[in-house]
Amino acid sequence: MGRVGWGVGEMAGVVGPISDYVAELFQRLRLVGEGDVARYIPELAKADPSDFAIVVATTDGGVYCAGDFDKTFTIQSISKPFVFGHALDTHGREYVLSKVGVEPSGEAFNAIVFDEATNRPLNPMVNSGAIAAAALVPGTTVMERQARMLGVLERFAGRPLTIDEAVFNSEKETGHRNRAIAYMMLNSGMISGSPEEILDVYFAQCSVLVSCSDLAMMAATLANGGVQPRTGERLLSSAHVRDVLTVMTTCGMYNYAGEWSYEIGMPAKSGVAGGIIAVVPGQLGIAIYSPLLDRFGNSVRGILACREISRDFHLHAFQVQPSLGAVIRRELSGLEVRCKRIRPAWERAALDERAGQICVLELQGALFFGSAERVIRRVTELSDKVSFLVLDFHRVSSADDAAIRLLAELAEWAEGSSVRLVVARLPAHAGLSALSQAFGSAPPPDGRVFPDVDTALEWCETALIGPHLSDAGHALALAALDLFKGLSPAQIKVLERAATAMSYKTGDVIIREGDSARLFFVIARGSVSVRLRGVSAEGRLTTRVASIGQGMPFGEMALFGGGKRSADIVAEEPVICYGFSVDELRDLGRPDPDLLATILANITFDLSERLRRANEQIRALEF
Ligand code: DON
Repeated sequence: MGRVGWGVGEMAGVVGPISDYVAELFQRLRLVGEGDVARYIPELAKADPSDFAIVVATTDGGVYCAGDFDKTFTIQSISKPFVFGHALDTHGREYVLSKVGVEPSGEAFNAIVFDEATNRPLNPMVNSGAIAAAALVPGTTVMERQARMLGVLERFAGRPLTIDEAVFNSEKETGHRNRAIAYMMLNSGMISGSPEEILDVYFAQCSVLVSCSDLAMMAATLANGGVQPRTGERLLSSAHVRDVLTVMTTCGMYNYAGEWSYEIGMPAKSGVAGGIIAVVPGQLGIAIYSPLLDRFGNSVRGILACREISRDFHLHAFQVQPSLGAVIRRELSGLEVRCKRIRPAWERAALDERAGQICVLELQGALFFGSAERVIRRVTELSDKVSFLVLDFHRVSSADDAAIRLLAELAEWAEGSSVRLVVARLPAHAGLSALSQAFGSAPPPDGRVFPDVDTALEWCETALIGPHLSDAGHALALAALDLFKGLSPAQIKVLERAATAMSYKTGDVIIREGDSARLFFVIARGSVSVRLRGVSAEGRLTTRVASIGQGMPFGEMALFGGGKRSADIVAEEPVICYGFSVDELRDLGRPDPDLLATILANITFDLSERLRRANEQIRALEF
């Protein structure tokens, strides 16, 4: 009974629905006995027909496996896509395509047919094209070229591999058809140098010993855009991965490629020792090993297994996936969502009137032409309805070149439009650095890139209401502050005597977490941020939980029982504020209890107002 398992790295015990699925599929298909082992290469005829393995590898290196998944066999034609890819990366597309075409032959893998017009072998998946690709493996000696070829396959497998000398010799002794093909290509100039030496590289590549797990990881590397899932090494440019997968789709299964594409719809490649690999781009690499072959030289159980996996998990390349519409996860108006800045009543009122001019688009998932087009269309639709648009990239997982180019052009377009378009939370992993550059790679005034939505919203709000605020920039007198609303001029005079005017530079820490709370402050000009210390995934030491603007108090908790400060207060810009000793204020309140009561009432009113707004915001975000 074949073994079953799931594991990242070394195999572990049976877990989860997918392992069960693979195990059940294995148990069912191991009973299929049709087909025969390859006999035209004598060494291959010794294969054990009952050998069978299924391995599914994910693009992050996980593997689900069943059967003889670590039994080795020769890779045969499954080596061809990797050697072709290596030739593309080494010599470039144009040169390689001058030596081999990309046209499906519709013939058997060892057919002696060439392109009538160019004499090129039709594609790199049939033996002729593979021999032409083997001729492109750099090196001055056969040994050097074989080592280079082996190194390529080893890096895809993620472990050292060896060549089966017995199979190599068997190929070499009986490979007359391939020899004929090689000499015809020497004759037509498709290869140069010694055909025997080139065949020694080709036979060696076919004789490399791999396990089904190795093949699955090699396929997963292609699914992962050319990056080996476990080693993280880039082994092929993403453009050449696209080329390799295309040729695997049209030519990988030879004169069965049409039916394979129709039924299964995955780029694939088979080998006469019984291996098949199939690739689900962005998701999976699948490998099957079973030496029983059909009349096309493809593994019988391999085809059955891939057909079921494709059908059961909707993995056909042309299975239309869920709509693009989902790229815009949420669209929030400035009426629903505000920045964390604590603003005085007059600023809040000015914002309530105009906040509809701000809109946040939360994006998600992969950005490619289709999804980027949706974002651009929505931005242009909104551009004459709002003045400020924030694109939140926090949930964007990846972006291809096309999407980045389109969004960069959108950044340029927006500069000429009436809408101020800014971006926030560009995730480092999504490869969006080019987009950050298109938006100036910095927050205003130099650019339009914000570390988070909160600071982006704050900038939009302040820019929106700034022109409408008369006192912005001047240091406010005590009497103008909401906190002291309702106090008489005499009481204001008392406070002015108790107040200490303090000024801070940008970045100064006004209050430090853990300090004793003896003073409270009111901002006459400028703004401060409330920062909590801690270590986040990005390794940041503090995070901004709020920002407090002109006219608003901070540290007022000192008035309610003192104790230790629970956060740092940092000047976000040059700040002038009035500091009040809590003890002194209490002393002032003794002869005039109304003074402190009015201040406390104003603080309580403001806190309740903020609570109400916070609930509204949570409602807007939750529903
Ligand atoms: O050259 C040959 O014929 C073998 N070394 C490779 C052929 C092969 O794997 C065809 N695949 N199904």
